[in-house]
Amino acid sequence: MSFPDGFRWGVATSAYQIEGAARLDGRSPSIWDTFAAVPGAVANGDTGDVAADHYHRWPEDVRLLVDLGVDAYRFSISWSRILPEGRGRVEQRGLDFYRRLAEALLSKGIEPFVTLYHWDLPQALEDLGGWRSRDTSGWFADYAATVHEALNDVVTKWVTVNEPYCSSIVGYGEGRHAPGAREGHGALAAAHHLLLGHGLAVQAMRANGAPGQEFGIVLNQSPTVPVTDSPADVAAASRQDCLLRRQFTDPLFGGAYPDELTSMFGAITDFSFRHDGDLAIIGEPLDYVGLNYYYRLHVADAPHREPDPAKRTAHDIGVDTTRLPDVPRTGMGWPVEPAGLTIALTDLKARHPDLPPVYVTENGCVYPDTETFEDHDRIVFLRDHIAAAEAAAGVDLRGYFCWSLLDNFEWAHGYKHRFGLIHVDYATQKRTPRASYHWYRSFIEAQRTQGR
Ligand code: BGC
Repeated sequence: MSFPDGFRWGVATSAYQIEGAARLDGRSPSIWDTFAAVPGAVANGDTGDVAADHYHRWPEDVRLLVDLGVDAYRFSISWSRILPEGRGRVEQRGLDFYRRLAEALLSKGIEPFVTLYHWDLPQALEDLGGWRSRDTSGWFADYAATVHEALNDVVTKWVTVNEPYCSSIVGYGEGRHAPGAREGHGALAAAHHLLLGHGLAVQAMRANGAPGQEFGIVLNQSPTVPVTDSPADVAAASRQDCLLRRQFTDPLFGGAYPDELTSMFGAITDFSFRHDGDLAIIGEPLDYVGLNYYYRLHVADAPHREPDPAKRTAHDIGVDTTRLPDVPRTGMGWPVEPAGLTIALTDLKARHPDLPPVYVTENGCVYPDTETFEDHDRIVFLRDHIAAAEAAAGVDLRGYFCWSLLDNFEWAHGYKHRFGLIHVDYATQKRTPRASYHWYRSFIEAQRTQGR
């Protein structure tokens, strides 16, 4: 395979999934601390209280990154560590933690890619309405400006929001993620306010005036495929695509919300959360966009779970996504379709020819472990997906980040599913690199040699 000069090879993690130290150094609870404490919300009653204890073990994790030979490391900042009340008072110990980490990375030639919001809203702000409330967009921008002001000498690559679809529709519509709400209007308002918060945050960080800074957003992009070519299935796939992809990409890169979104949800919301001028803020030009790809969605038309259109959540769009094709599946049950990554990349570019440069900011898988951590399935998965990324002709692709460096708290699945290149024994916190870690290191090394 051959990738352009300067292409960044990396790995990704997020704060709540790896840090632990949930009550240390002034950190306040986030919506994930609250949600994980609800019986039945997370498999096995797991919480992020300790996770992979990265808050204490980060020097060892940096050594593992150095040995892996990556150019870049994508991690997220816990809003609750920086602003325990979500706004106002700044907790210096939080900023110090991320400064130490960024400095250690830089000293080893690893570029930090910082995500400001990977799903862990301070609970104090959820108590005021969370992402349903327009105020949260402004508080997010204030938080972003605070972090940016403090760290722009050691971080130049910023991601505002990770997968606003999951934070809004999965968190406030489906209720499978924090805060566990099942709403219509509220979930759609959350989606809009995440986008608005993103735009305001980019503007606020740019206003700091630091040189050489780059700003982007990360979107999950599962291409949809109708299970048959019947008009009903084709329409269902289009609704799914509208909810998951176009609700976000159209306003970000096309200056407008899709009409289909308005017609899909006219019964449950008046969209009064959209104000004049918002689209200009949401459409603030970006330096790059991050694309996360795990699987394609195979969509069939299906009866709505709630017969009364006025009572539906934003998650109930009358689709069935369980009719999978006869292809191998990962340990998550997700279909393995590397070509979906090529399609995700080329589709986005085709719909938005002026798209900024792109990074694959997450891609990875879960497979059952062998005793010696010889995860050949993961190696094949990664190799095939990297090849699929390379095949995305016409896309200005600048880097690829594997999810994830370490096994971690896999949200509602708890610790059961392991995405790491490195195995974590949660009883002892011992890290053991899997075969895929060694493979990725050799792969990156070979790419570098080829480029010389
Ligand atoms: C999220 C990660 C998550 C991964 C695997 C992505 O949607 O950004 O936090 O662990 O998928 O489910």
